[in-house]
Amino acid sequence: MTATTPEPLTSDDDWWRSAVVYQVYVRSFADANGDGVGDIPGIRERLPYLRDLGVDALWLTPFYTSPQIDAGYDVADYRDVDPLFGSLTDFDAMITDAHALGLRIIVDLVPNHTSSAHPWFTAALAAAPGSPERARYLFADGRGETGELPPNDWESIFGGPAWTRLPDGQWYMHLFDPAQPDLNWRHPEVRAEFEDVLRFWLDRGVDGFRIDVAHGMIKAEGLPDVGFNSMTTGQRQSELLGKGRLPYFDQDEVHEIYRAWRPILDSYPGGRMAVAEAWAETPQRLARYIGADELHQAFSFDFLDATWSADSFRKVIDTALAESTIVGAPTTWVLSNHDRQRHVTRYGDGEVGLRRARAAALLMLALPGAAYVYQGEELGLPEVLDLPDELRQDPSFLRTGESRDGCRVPIPWSGELAPYGFGPEGSELSWLPAPATWRGLSVAAQTGVPGSTLELYRAALRARHEHPALAGTAGGVVWLETEPGVLAFSRAAGPAVLTCVVNLSGAEVTIDGYGQPVVASADLTERGEGHVLPVDAAAWFERR
Ligand code: BGC
Repeated sequence: MTATTPEPLTSDDDWWRSAVVYQVYVRSFADANGDGVGDIPGIRERLPYLRDLGVDALWLTPFYTSPQIDAGYDVADYRDVDPLFGSLTDFDAMITDAHALGLRIIVDLVPNHTSSAHPWFTAALAAAPGSPERARYLFADGRGETGELPPNDWESIFGGPAWTRLPDGQWYMHLFDPAQPDLNWRHPEVRAEFEDVLRFWLDRGVDGFRIDVAHGMIKAEGLPDVGFNSMTTGQRQSELLGKGRLPYFDQDEVHEIYRAWRPILDSYPGGRMAVAEAWAETPQRLARYIGADELHQAFSFDFLDATWSADSFRKVIDTALAESTIVGAPTTWVLSNHDRQRHVTRYGDGEVGLRRARAAALLMLALPGAAYVYQGEELGLPEVLDLPDELRQDPSFLRTGESRDGCRVPIPWSGELAPYGFGPEGSELSWLPAPATWRGLSVAAQTGVPGSTLELYRAALRARHEHPALAGTAGGVVWLETEPGVLAFSRAAGPAVLTCVVNLSGAEVTIDGYGQPVVASADLTERGEGHVLPVDAAAWFERR
């Protein structure tokens, strides 16, 4: 244990089962030193905001030493903080403060690939084909008469072949950017290294890990062809993500890795957990990542992908809840993250999108299980669609024309001029520009304003903690008979019943018989004994 190790927060080992976790996209959250990039001291300064918001934990995206080719998902040193974001001392101070405020800290672990600047990879490049240095990665000879063709037809998620050729003729594999070579997880040194990295951060007091590309570490033996790719049939292999089988994803052997990690997590006090960013062909295969001997949670991306209809949400929720019952782990709901278009925009953008996003938040926060909130969704931020191409930094933009920069624009905190208090007083720098329309969406502009999205999230999070039917893991979902296009379910704890109603029907509906409103995403008006719930709105009602 390091000298700085903070005490675990409480002995509640099951905190993660119902936690609301706030995703901090570090480079875009808060910039303490004024260089235009968010940093760890910036997070530390803003911890009281997150405590007041009412979340239980933060997930920090990678802040490790990195050339930043893929915004830190290309790690060169897993045990240090990139100077861009601060230092280990800053990290220790931040986690100590977070714990003192009752906030837990989850860090991102990137085990599928390293940066090409990682000492292991530079050693592999300097060594000969067939050397032990190359054995930690996936090097192979090419096909064709002179090895001029890639070893197989695998495609990078960021577009183009998943292989890059070296001057000595060999190829190496990268499921993402060429600057992110994939590790060989059948190599014992790779396994030992990451077990040690886990311990390094656990010793520093982290409460958990978000496992990047958790379905990717094991590749099918023999590296068999997929059979098609953009070059041959025009269909990108990544279109099968979450829908079909690929020889480089969701291989059965990957579960051995998590069965080895779980005892390590369990050997620390205070309920240390891990959440998988995993894509699998079916919800059943996704559920295999969670349970008593593997990881604690796996994001339900089906929920994120549900379209704006009662049927779509109902189906996804029922399936996810059924799977979580079987494996005895909670469902992990998420609406947005740093890789996906913000849900205000996915649901229609503008006023419609915002209305629906607010309703979706009440739906998500009323469900049993854990919920992940992506920074800025509590402000109702939309995707920034018109960033100039020359400012876009996502490596996939260059390869596919698709960019995730629009959901990564720095958070507006206060003030009249961009970047709206992202940096220290007077700082004008921000690594991506915030649009002029964000002035009215800043934290300061929404604080204390009745009906603002920020106050809606605060009220919902408060009620989620305080209401007996929502607190902890109490109360399974009981669906109620409703008009078509309306979702209604109750959760109960003893006599206390909370009912969540979401109106996706396209017309206003009258809600009667569920008790008093607790929180609503739009103004409710009284009608007879009940209330009118507007189009694209949600509300919670209670009876005690
Ligand atoms: C992360 C992405 C990243 C990729 C490669 C994903 O799961 O969320 O942001 O580009 O992994 O590490």
